[in-house]
Amino acid sequence: MASPSKQEHSPASQAWDLGRFTQTLAFFETLPFIGNLSQWQAWLAPFLPPELQPISNKPQSTVLVLGATGNLGRRVVKLLLEQQYHVKAFVRNPARARDILAISTLPPGQKDRLTLVVGDVTQAESLPTDLLTGVDAVISCLGAIVRPVSPENREANYAEGTTYYEPAVIEATPEQVEYQGIQNLLKLAQPHFQANSGQRIIFDFCPPNQATAQLWGALDDVVMGGVSQSGLRILTTSALFTGVVSTANSGGFASIRTKNIQPPFDLSCFQGIQLRVKGDGQRYKFLLRSSPAWDGVGYAFSFDTVADQWQTIQIPFQQLTPVLRAKRNPTAPAFDPKTVYSLQLMLSKFEYDGALNPHFQPGPFALELETISAYLDHHPLPRWIMVSSAGATRPGTPEAATDPRPIVRLSDQLGGILTWKFRGEELIRQSGIPYTIIRPTALTESSGQEPLIMAQGDTLAGKVSREDVAQLCVQALQWPSATQKTLEIAAGDGGIVPQDWGRGLELLKAD
Ligand SMILES: NC(=O)c1ccc[n+]([C@@H]2O[C@H](COP(=O)([O-])OP(=O)(O)OC[C@H]3O[C@@H](n4cnc5c(N)ncnc54)[C@H](OP(=O)(O)O)[C@@H]3O)[C@@H](O)[C@H]2O)c1
Repeated sequence: MASPSKQEHSPASQAWDLGRFTQTLAFFETLPFIGNLSQWQAWLAPFLPPELQPISNKPQSTVLVLGATGNLGRRVVKLLLEQQYHVKAFVRNPARARDILAISTLPPGQKDRLTLVVGDVTQAESLPTDLLTGVDAVISCLGAIVRPVSPENREANYAEGTTYYEPAVIEATPEQVEYQGIQNLLKLAQPHFQANSGQRIIFDFCPPNQATAQLWGALDDVVMGGVSQSGLRILTTSALFTGVVSTANSGGFASIRTKNIQPPFDLSCFQGIQLRVKGDGQRYKFLLRSSPAWDGVGYAFSFDTVADQWQTIQIPFQQLTPVLRAKRNPTAPAFDPKTVYSLQLMLSKFEYDGALNPHFQPGPFALELETISAYLDHHPLPRWIMVSSAGATRPGTPEAATDPRPIVRLSDQLGGILTWKFRGEELIRQSGIPYTIIRPTALTESSGQEPLIMAQGDTLAGKVSREDVAQLCVQALQWPSATQKTLEIAAGDGGIVPQDWGRGLELLKAD
């Protein structure tokens, strides 16, 4: 949209419009005869966005465990239940799951938090459409089933390093489980996690919704005797805050503000507000109010626009300036994001305390709006913890032939298991879902609690207890430092003790 042409508007006195003054007060229900707000609340309810609580990975949240009846998955389920999580255990055979997870002997508090979900990842149609509903994070312990090739050894404890059994893939291929299976799961998981990706749209004007737009009304300097005029216009794929600011009658601002939102938005889990705007080169203000008072303290943030360019403006709550009208109010309480009653966009001749807005031009103006969102910080918690395997990058490389890890040499014989694990990893890395990919070396049945070597570059060889891998998966849910990282792990002297695993992850490079 082209910027409106600028003309100098005479600051001389102009006729003031009583009609617009009363319309403004009536819109914001500040006239005594409008009565209380309750009649408006019912009217507004259908226009308000859905509840704004973001998903969380704190205990009491829900984790979907894939491969929950596997040797690793069952340990993950046990730890999650012990740590107060709700668990959705994705299994192929519920009777077997009841047995392996010893559901009948679980304490009632844990049993109530465990739900079995039945499906086969290789068959997209078997995946329940509500698989991700209510899920805050996924821990994937899935794997193609590799067992001793000879049927009489199938039930042998697969404790690597003690007895060597010639291995074979005995069910669906690695391609089907570890690649196509992940693809099938991501079809459900991507929209779910994108919708919960640390950004919550509060107002979406793209395309604009008439009802949402009706929450916004003009609040111009007419309330103080001025003659500026503005409003929110609906365009095809956006909304436009536009009008004419005049400095006549000692005025000089135009704004749009929402009616009080009831109940107020609780944005306490977010770091700030993000605007997607296209302006005209002027400096605008954005204001929030955390009380329902009409003329109470506003919390303001000024931002500069670049003419005719879409911009993403981030407004951290911590950088909001408390103001009463355009005067700073340092004694005001800090902004409380728990109760956000109203939002306001303004073009004003003034910054704060009488200082002039350095990028203000009286006359026509235009600020196009796509979305107003609440955003989380840049370090989201991981939402998908994937257990892959050390050696995943090696097949097909010149180093493969001399790699000391048996699985690298066995990979092709096992249906390209490492190749498909790596391709499954790539699907996760590219999914946009915050993730951690853990590549264990050979898994053992030892009791764990050992120091862990955490490495990157895929050269680590060794062994690691399933107990410790399960612990790391569950702990990683709580560490933002684990997000967007791929790491190999092995138990070893000089490794990191369990209490310091969080710090160990922090030292690793993000992908
Ligand atoms: N063994 C090692 O030394 C080693 C080393 C590094 C990495 N890893 C990897 O670590 C992960 C966990 O190992 P693990 O020993 O716990 O493996 P596991 O005992 O064989 O468990 C694999 C899990 O995947 C599930 N699964 C297989 N195909 C499925 C399908 N089509 N649909 C739904 N679920 C399916 C299995 O379900 P059921 O319970 O119904 O069979 C099982 O729960 C695997 O990815 C493995 O490759 C293993």
